[in-house]
Amino acid sequence: MIRIILIGYMGAGKTTVGKALAKDLGLMFYDLDWYIETRMHKTVAQIFEERGEEGFREIERNMLHEVAEFEDVIISCGGGTPCFFDNMDYLNQQGDTVYLQCSPEVLAKHLRMGKGVRPLLLGKNDEQLMAYIREHLAEREPFYSRARHTINVDLMDNYEKIRITVDGVKRLVNIM
Ligand code: S3P
Repeated sequence: MIRIILIGYMGAGKTTVGKALAKDLGLMFYDLDWYIETRMHKTVAQIFEERGEEGFREIERNMLHEVAEFEDVIISCGGGTPCFFDNMDYLNQQGDTVYLQCSPEVLAKHLRMGKGVRPLLLGKNDEQLMAYIREHLAEREPFYSRARHTINVDLMDNYEKIRITVDGVKRLVNIM
C-alpha cells in the first residue's frame, strides 16, 4: 500500500508535485484544502472568516483523519497542517511524509501571485510578505523537519524541474 504525504510551506509546490506524482504512479490525489472545501461547501477563506483560524484548524484536523485513511493515494497537506495538535505524529504514523523544502525568497516569489486567496497573507505588501515568510517558516521548520524525508524544491519552477522532483520523491520513498 502506498500513501505519500507532502508537507511544506504555502507556495512550496505541494499541490503541483502531488498531482504530477499521482499521475506518474497512477494513484488518486487528494489535496487537503480542496477536500475540506468540498466537504464543507465553503472555501478555506470563508471558513477562516466565519470560524477564525482556531475553527479552521479543528476542521482541518478532522478532515485530515478522513483523508489519511485512504489507501494508495498521494496527499498534499495545507502549509499549517503539520504544526497543530498531534498532526505531525499522526502523519508520520499514516504514511511516507515528504517535506518539500524551499527558501523564503522562492516562496515569496511564488506567493506574491496567490496572496489574495490565502487568509494568512491577506493585505501584505511585498516587504511585509517577505518578513512574514521568514519568521513564520522558522517557526514551522521544527515541525516540517520531522518528516521522514526532505527534498529541496528551490529550483522547481518549470516542467523539467517538476519531473526531477517527482523522481526524487519516488527515490526517497523507494518506489523507483
Ligand atoms: C495555510 C496554508 C493553506 C491553507 C490555509 C492555511 C497555512 O494551504 O491550508 O490557508 O497555515 O500555511 P496551502 O499551503 O496549500 O496554501
